[in-house]
Amino acid sequence: SIPVITIDGPTASGKGTLAAAVAARLGWHQLDSGMLYRATALAAMRQGVDAGDEAALARVASSLQLRFDGERVLLEGADVATELRFEAVGAMASKIAALPAVRSALNALQLSFRKLPGLVADGRDMGTVIFPAAPLKVFLTASPAQRAERRHKQLISKGISASIADLWADLEARDARDKNRSVAPLKPAEDALLLDNSGLTIDQSVDRVLAWWAE
Ligand code: CDP
Repeated sequence: SIPVITIDGPTASGKGTLAAAVAARLGWHQLDSGMLYRATALAAMRQGVDAGDEAALARVASSLQLRFDGERVLLEGADVATELRFEAVGAMASKIAALPAVRSALNALQLSFRKLPGLVADGRDMGTVIFPAAPLKVFLTASPAQRAERRHKQLISKGISASIADLWADLEARDARDKNRSVAPLKPAEDALLLDNSGLTIDQSVDRVLAWWAE
């Protein structure tokens, strides 16, 4: 069967960077599942759908016209890669991700990323819900200070300004929401391997995961 490596963890723990690097080293496909929630949030905001209208949000999710093309993320044909990173979009994504109908509307799309020769999938519930049979599951953490700083650098590099204090507060609010929601709460799968990358370089984290995969 087609192998999957899952990488789950809290916001700004470095999942996306790690997943992209591991996928590149293995020559595998990548699924950044947070992008699907962000794209659903952005599409809903554009269509003026209310953040509390679960049925309408689920319809937006199941009719998402999304395509990944290198660095570009095309929503209905237009590149929205920059907008998807806006904090307002992330905050809306975290709210709608708590709605069961939205999550199930994105199931089939997520499963469709599993293609030969393999998939590296990152998010909150890749190992617990979407790919429960994955042979390697990583749960990634980092200290809140590290995460706020990383998110800050990431936004600056995209020309978006934000204060570290605001980012920290947003991070904690999002973590609390992700952990405490009733559907697919953020938690390590029982068979996940824990990786705290606070003191590690990206290369060291990648090597750690590849070593686990080779075991
Ligand atoms: O960049 P950050 O880690 O904050 O967010 P993301 O991974 O792009 O995901 C955005 C939001 O979608 C998160 O705050 C989660 O609430 C939600 N999400 C989820 O519920 N399940 C996933 N598999 C991925 C993201």
